[in-house]
Amino acid sequence: TKIAVFVSGGGTNLQALIDAEKRGEIPSGEIALVLASNDSAYALTRAEENGIKSVVIKRKGFPSQEAYEEEMKNVLDENGINMIVLAGFMSLLSEKFTALYPKRIVNIHPSLIPSFCGKGFYGLHVHEAALGYGVKVTGATVHYVNEIPDGGEIILQKAVEILEGDTPEVLQKRVMEEAEWVLLPKAVEMVACKLQKGN
Ligand code: GRF
Repeated sequence: TKIAVFVSGGGTNLQALIDAEKRGEIPSGEIALVLASNDSAYALTRAEENGIKSVVIKRKGFPSQEAYEEEMKNVLDENGINMIVLAGFMSLLSEKFTALYPKRIVNIHPSLIPSFCGKGFYGLHVHEAALGYGVKVTGATVHYVNEIPDGGEIILQKAVEILEGDTPEVLQKRVMEEAEWVLLPKAVEMVACKLQKGN
């Protein structure tokens, strides 16, 4: 399974995938392309350092969402990509695009869905909301991507304890270390393996 990882920021989840692949933990997949929504994403440096091809496609560079997504589709086809991982990708994808890849796009979200997800829940906002509500357990979810934001079928989840005195930043870090970086490689291998077997 040839995988493209879509990124917009630091790319620590991309790094977790690269490291897992190097350890032989993603035998059914190959990270073949990194697609960034902006050229300042540190994830691009991570791709370069690891010899992974990368491309920047900016929404602003296109007159419409349709033209933007057509370009993405062309690049994915040119590179023989058949699975997409959204790892901190901040640009929206239309139903038209997600429908091209049914059960072939996965996303990592830093909460236990259906809590603290959907519109407006991204980045630190998710952890601010969890702390604001006063939940004692949060976590991360890997799910398939469909037209509903954070609404696709859940693949894996992992819980993380909230501790007294947590700030959004501290909690974000713990959720990444204890859940996201562990969960994403596992889920990617599960989906890549299914796709390889052809179901
Ligand atoms: C992660 O918290 C991920 O769950 C969310 O965006 C963040 C991306 O971080 N969707 P990174 O770019 O992988 O470091």
